[in-house]
Amino acid sequence: MDSKRKIDYENLRAVNNSFLSEYHKKSAEVIEKGWYILGQEVDKFEKEYASYNDIEHCIGVASGLDALILILEGLDLPKGSEVIIPANAYIASIISVIRAGLVPVLVEPDIRNYNLDPEKLSDALTDKTSAVMVVHLYGGMTDMPSVKDFCTSHNLYLIEDCAQAHGARLNDKMSGTWGDAAAFSFYPTKNLGALGDAGAIVTSDEKLATKVRMMRNYGFSKKYYCDYLGYNSRLDELQAAFLRVKLKNLEDINNHKRNLAQIYLNRLNSAYTLPYVSSDVVNVFHIFPIRYEKRDDLRKFLAEHNIGTEIHYPVPPHQQECLKDLYGSFSFPISEEIHSTILSLPISYGHMEADIEYVCKIMNKYIEG
Ligand SMILES: Cc1ncc(COP(=O)(O)O)c(C=O)c1O
Repeated sequence: MDSKRKIDYENLRAVNNSFLSEYHKKSAEVIEKGWYILGQEVDKFEKEYASYNDIEHCIGVASGLDALILILEGLDLPKGSEVIIPANAYIASIISVIRAGLVPVLVEPDIRNYNLDPEKLSDALTDKTSAVMVVHLYGGMTDMPSVKDFCTSHNLYLIEDCAQAHGARLNDKMSGTWGDAAAFSFYPTKNLGALGDAGAIVTSDEKLATKVRMMRNYGFSKKYYCDYLGYNSRLDELQAAFLRVKLKNLEDINNHKRNLAQIYLNRLNSAYTLPYVSSDVVNVFHIFPIRYEKRDDLRKFLAEHNIGTEIHYPVPPHQQECLKDLYGSFSFPISEEIHSTILSLPISYGHMEADIEYVCKIMNKYIEG
């Protein structure tokens, strides 16, 4: 029976099945209302998501990448100034810095939690540094007290990329509330995922909130009056309506994933490097990454047992084709080590405990024979 068992890495149909009747009701409401972009659903979602995150402002936009670009442009960082960012960041985080006319300065991550290592900040600081961007990868959190102290003492802006950290907390303080502004992605696979592209900015800075609110809509201060050279990065009513449904269930989604993570943490053979668990952090396990030297061989073995896995990410940013001119000659051994050994195991809202027990069994079989 086991030989026929199939565990997909992710199954969005299964994830969204739980919310299907509410989605149908909401989409009928929106369609019949006849107002499809930046309306009451977006307003309500923004208020609800700001309240969930315990922060004053939320501005819905079209994607996580747009949220990052709008923050960087909204803060008016001097063109050509430097933004310190982890070398293993997702490529979109780095793209945002370049698109905003700034220079990413890559620093090695902390090998334990895969996030920016505050110890590396001083070496990266120059008189051109204007900001630090942390990227809370996989559902965990960067050491924010240390990063915040550094930014305060050097007068730098602090931006959080929270695309993988919806609801994550450090010392009971939400991700997204530590710096000047934070970006969220609601890409369908995220813990708070839409049924298409969507994103948001959260901030307690009223001036920034007002500016990015205009910039997402061409730069209009009111209809047809354009104060900034902005973008079309508006959030759809339909996506906002779906997000409102899911937001009510976000704590449940996060708890479910944490529960599945605990099974891995309890069961997996110690030959695997498991995610670092800190008692200060409420990790939301967007991804469950392990590291293993013979990662590709393990992945093949799991595939032969019908277990889907992913690699987040196979190529470090400095080795990406699009960044070769900038960073081709650089070497980041910690980041390279992570990229060559990391493997993401199934950990979806659509998975049951028994699915994860089965993955553990096959993972341990690979080691123990
Ligand atoms: C860490 C991180 N930053 C930024 C993004 C970009 O978000 P989006 O795909 O919504 O543009 C993602 C999306 O996967 C991400 O994981």
